[in-house]
Amino acid sequence: MAKEMIVVEGGTPLAGEVRVSGAKNSALKLIAASILGSGESVIHNVPLISDIVVMSKVLETLGARVKREDHTLVIDTADIDTWETPYELVSKMRASISVLGPLVARFGRARVAMPGGCNLGARKIDMHMVGMEALGVHFETDHGFIEASTPNGLHGAYVALDFPSVGATENTMMCAVTAEGETVIENAAREPEIEDLADMLNAMGARVSGAGSPTIVVEGVPASSLHACEHTTVGDRIEAGTFLVGGAMTGGPVTVRGIEPGFLRMALMKLHAMGCSIDFGDDYITVSRDGALQAIDIQTLPHPGFPTDLQAQFMLLAAVAQGNSVITENVFENRFMFADEIGRMGARVTIEDHHAIVEGVSSLQGTDVKATDLRCGAALVLAGVFAEGTTRVHKVHHIDRGYEDYVGKLSSLGARLHRELDEDIDW
Ligand code: EPZ
Repeated sequence: MAKEMIVVEGGTPLAGEVRVSGAKNSALKLIAASILGSGESVIHNVPLISDIVVMSKVLETLGARVKREDHTLVIDTADIDTWETPYELVSKMRASISVLGPLVARFGRARVAMPGGCNLGARKIDMHMVGMEALGVHFETDHGFIEASTPNGLHGAYVALDFPSVGATENTMMCAVTAEGETVIENAAREPEIEDLADMLNAMGARVSGAGSPTIVVEGVPASSLHACEHTTVGDRIEAGTFLVGGAMTGGPVTVRGIEPGFLRMALMKLHAMGCSIDFGDDYITVSRDGALQAIDIQTLPHPGFPTDLQAQFMLLAAVAQGNSVITENVFENRFMFADEIGRMGARVTIEDHHAIVEGVSSLQGTDVKATDLRCGAALVLAGVFAEGTTRVHKVHHIDRGYEDYVGKLSSLGARLHRELDEDIDW
């Protein structure tokens, strides 16, 4: 894949309406969940992004057949004949670990490559393993692979997670679906994508309740009773929040459609506190701003707290607001790389441990910057829209992992930007 960059001409306000795609952080798990039900599952509103391509390949290496029809995936899992995932795919995308729970629930075993770390930190899976061990799963590590087995079958259990980990909640919930008896998951993650996954599991014949609350209850059912289903992915709240930040930054009004406003309650509260006007209906949110952008303090926390996946985007807003803001990152140990890049554009950000102190400035200057993860990359393109002059964002493959047609959607809001081949600079 040739390296590309996004070239942005600054100084253009964003205004108009975009429809968000289906949620990356739900669709990836819905694809994994299809392993549980033998037959042809149909998943609608799946975003056209590279992470979905990787997860589809993971399913195909297991023996499933995956067909894409526009934004719909048709996944036939009847012929899945292996429970091993290859390192080269799992190392590309941490979310591949989401096949662990479904494979064990269906086959009683799994061999999944250990996910590596990433730019955000160690990205351990100890809580995934603790949750599944409580259900009777036995883990061994073998040459970089996790070997899961169930010598005495799967049984319901009371599981209390040390931290409301999204991935650990999902894997434990999917594994519990065929565990004999009742499983209670305490301190469960409450992200909207967890509810979306539980809805699909129930459509397949599972019996999950409490998703979206801190306590999830799963009544185990026989694996043979689970079946394929048809499901529509919820809208992507992080993509929506990214475009709304663009509207807040340049004044808007920007409307995002295809999103449940309740998914973004905390982020909308922060936009309002920064001086923005918010309007919303059943499936849209509109952000606009007349007065100056005010400084803000933000603590990233598990849902319903402020989403860490919007931290870089709000650091950009704080960078061009009046006054000083403090942004505290409580979820990942290393998620301030955006500060270094935005600093090259004239922002004033000081990092102290897991706090970022942001001193607002009135303008940013376009220059060369590089995406270090998908949210940092998306925020850097927005910074280029605001900055004076031209900004070239390198390593845009990070953005393509989680944003469908980011350039096209921003162009439809009035941004002047395009993609082009990146000369061979090893950014
Ligand atoms: C999901 O990652 C999302 N990814 C992330 O989105 C998101 O930032 C994160 O949830 C938090 O909301 C997908 O859904 C594919 P966690 P996940 O388990 O499940 C530590 C994006 O930009 N931890 O809630 O990996 C972990 O290291 C991505 O779309 C353990 O220590 O998140 C992290 O510091 C980035 N042990 C914290 O907990 C474990 O067993 C939160 O992780 C599991 C997690």
